[in-house]
Amino acid sequence: MKLFNELGIGKETLKALENMGFEEATPIQTSTIPLLMEGKDVIGQAQTGTGKTAAFGVPMVEMLDPAEGMVQGLVVAPTRELAVQVAEEINRIGQIKKIRALPIYGGQEIGRQIKSLKNKPHIVVGTPGRLMDHMRRKTIRMEKISMVVLDEADEMLNMGFIEDIETILKEVPTERQTLLFSATMPKPIQKLGEQFMQNPELIRTKAKEMTVDLTEQSYIEIMERKKFDVLCNLLDIQSPELGIIFGRTKKRVDELYEALQKRGYSAEAIHGDLTQSRRDQVMRRFKQGQVELLVATDVAARGLDISGVTHVYNFDIPQDPESYVHRVGRTGRAGKTGEAITFVTSREMDHLRSIEQSIKKKILRKSAPTLSDALEGQQRTAVENLLQIIENKEYLPYQEVARELLEENDSTLMVAAALKLITKEPVTIPVKITEQEPLRRSRKSSGGYKGSKSGSKGGYKGGKPGGKSRWNSGNSRKKTDNRGKSQSKNKW
Ligand SMILES: Nc1ncnc2c1ncn2[C@@H]1O[C@H](COP(=O)(O)OP(=O)(O)OP(=O)(O)O)[C@@H](O)[C@H]1O
Ligand SMILES: [Mg+2]
Repeated sequence: MKLFNELGIGKETLKALENMGFEEATPIQTSTIPLLMEGKDVIGQAQTGTGKTAAFGVPMVEMLDPAEGMVQGLVVAPTRELAVQVAEEINRIGQIKKIRALPIYGGQEIGRQIKSLKNKPHIVVGTPGRLMDHMRRKTIRMEKISMVVLDEADEMLNMGFIEDIETILKEVPTERQTLLFSATMPKPIQKLGEQFMQNPELIRTKAKEMTVDLTEQSYIEIMERKKFDVLCNLLDIQSPELGIIFGRTKKRVDELYEALQKRGYSAEAIHGDLTQSRRDQVMRRFKQGQVELLVATDVAARGLDISGVTHVYNFDIPQDPESYVHRVGRTGRAGKTGEAITFVTSREMDHLRSIEQSIKKKILRKSAPTLSDALEGQQRTAVENLLQIIENKEYLPYQEVARELLEENDSTLMVAAALKLITKEPVTIPVKITEQEPLRRSRKSSGGYKGSKSGSKGGYKGGKPGGKSRWNSGNSRKKTDNRGKSQSKNKW
């Protein structure tokens, strides 16, 4: 691991990185930044939350010319939310060198984007559908593009997107640098990607497993119809600061969201059928901590970097190992710890085993918490809140009444009564969740690349075990602003 000032980066960008709180470069940044600045094509694979965005963002900012008035860099990302986030991060890195990135995505008014494109951004970060739209309208010129990045590259080269990517890359000069980044890179997809590249170097950061060891991963074997009550028990016990609950389909997500609301949890939902303004609102509220739970389809599985996400719940087991890796990777980022729990029905146990084989990790088995565990959890939370009030000396206006009460009452009874009052007792209001068929061991329903991906052989060749990450310099106070959202193909 190196400091950024050992990587040959210019003063302005170094200053910007310092402002962002970045001191030490992460392993993927250490190995790819110098290569990229030599002009090499690179495939970068590193675990979720280890700074791949800056691994390509820094060299882009360094290599592009702020005086050039045409788009020189292009990043393609699978979802609107991710395009916005990546553009924000590049804008922070390029702030002092004055390299500007513009997100371009579906669902946002095209006129506004055309206007912004006229402001001569140096980098465009787009979702494929909207990018192609601008290409057709000739509102984006591609002839000066010298760097192209496919973020979440294995997803971008998947069946759902590959034709769009081909169309886009055809318009970009062949004299260019092409970069692929992702936490997962099944071999066949990598081979496919290499066709768009020139002598690419493959950089994989040394890690035995594909998921970060900062996240405790477990599963609960459970009957389909018991899932929701057990989820509620878990939420009561764990009281996540921020938690993401992944469901398999949009309908499922809607039902879960309504059911959680009914039981008094603070939740929002996101999937591809919502309007853009709704998606914006949901993401804003979640990032700002106004709601604690985000119920989501896989639209939120890749790339999103929301600090404070302490828990990920797979209400439905993910379709494939890649999806598992990315979902679980929404927590345990930038050196922070996290916890991920996956519900598995007995008929899906095979599927869980194949995920374990692919990611080279044993997922811990846990038993389902009961209602009385949940009550205990809520009592613990109430006690913690009580102690917090004492620590903050917020009790002062109540002291006099308390004294009077204790003169005539038993102190244990009084505290017990107070606890009863402030404990959120588990709610068991009936809710409606349509039962799902168990997942069969098929590949992605979206028609994913059908190569020997994932499968029982589990083809991930990690290197040696990586050390605990020390690189988080305690920055990563996250942006709370957020705008665009979604993806061009409405798969989720
Ligand atoms: N060198 C660094 N020092 C401190 N924080 C960093 C550093 N590099 C990146 N970060 C922060 O770490 C977090 C995760 O980074 P990023 O989103 O780029 O991860 P990623 O590898 O792209 O993950 P994913 O595979 O989920 O997309 C971000 O909040 C980012 O700002
Ligand atoms: Mg990323």
